[in-house]
Amino acid sequence: MKFKRGRGVIARYRDFLPITDKTPVISLGEGDTPLIFCPELSKRVGRGCRVFVKNEGVNPTGSFKDRGMTVAASMSMERGARALICASTGNTSASAAAYAARAGISCSVILPAGKIARGKLLQAFAYGAKIVAIDGNFDDALGIVRELGERGDFVIVNSINPDRIAGQKTAAFEIVDEIGDAPDYHVLPVGNAGNITAYWTGYREYHARQRSTKLPAMIGFQAAGAAPIFHNRIIEEPETIASAIRIGNPASWKQARAAIEESRGAVDVVTDEEILDAQIWLARHEGIFVEPASAAAIGGLLKCCDSNEAVYSFRKIQEESRIVCTVTGHGLKDADVIMQRMRELKPVAATLNAVRRALEL
Ligand code: F0G
Repeated sequence: MKFKRGRGVIARYRDFLPITDKTPVISLGEGDTPLIFCPELSKRVGRGCRVFVKNEGVNPTGSFKDRGMTVAASMSMERGARALICASTGNTSASAAAYAARAGISCSVILPAGKIARGKLLQAFAYGAKIVAIDGNFDDALGIVRELGERGDFVIVNSINPDRIAGQKTAAFEIVDEIGDAPDYHVLPVGNAGNITAYWTGYREYHARQRSTKLPAMIGFQAAGAAPIFHNRIIEEPETIASAIRIGNPASWKQARAAIEESRGAVDVVTDEEILDAQIWLARHEGIFVEPASAAAIGGLLKCCDSNEAVYSFRKIQEESRIVCTVTGHGLKDADVIMQRMRELKPVAATLNAVRRALEL
């Protein structure tokens, strides 16, 4: 069947997925997200380079997780699952809850108490998930979920489930299909390291099937206070404003290392300040509003251009390189982060003059 917009990643990339004729397809029309050319970002990089942002925030639940969740939920249904479970820093739980609702099965989510952006928590509630907050971090929650999964009560839909990675690799396919080849560089944030694993899998598969002539260098960014892969050690108490990537012991650590090494890429860190500055910069210069974890990729790209401390310097890269940056989640999910930066709005009189004065006209 010919590809039609909005039918979801399974309809579009079935041949590359573990889907069979018997699989009930659970989809909310995920994927097919815009690859946006960014003139201001391109100027910052210079050397005639072209920077594109893959905006995953426009997926059905506002993050890239939906690509993997459609496959994980569909395969779970084929295997007769009654309940899904995940640990999450927020987005996985929102996505799992939505796809479980769509499938008509239950969903339980285990979250670090007080560390989930409000919008994500509201989503999990709205979609009807059973929500348990623990006095611990994401890594503790994932440990508990693994144990519950082993008892056979639930299907785990974290990215340790290979169906999640299979679905998420479709983002790499879309990029190659759209620009006609793989980019030279792919920049993205890294938390539990499922997404960098998925992109690298996707790029390699397409390359093996001659859909692209090259492979990109994978460049991952972690938050400075939650950078186990960068420091090469478990971080017991990870801390960052980018709550989505507040992870000290990523499940796909080894696969992420392999992606970085095989692609001759790099892993680097960005501070919370760089993350927040990049979030506002992207919104105001390119009109793309992303959550802090996503801004880590943008902050990282800017660091590669501006800082002598960057692991990877874009000042020496080949001219006219193509760079793709994945922004993983929508800015509205974490409204509190932005609210903190806003001044209080004091109403003025409802008169033309008062409004003119307020606008400094
Ligand atoms: N960006 C956002 C917005 C995320 O929610 C996550 C992960 C990442 C980046 C990092 O991706 O884990 O594949 O390296 N969020 C997970 C969650 C952990 O529970 O929602 P990763």
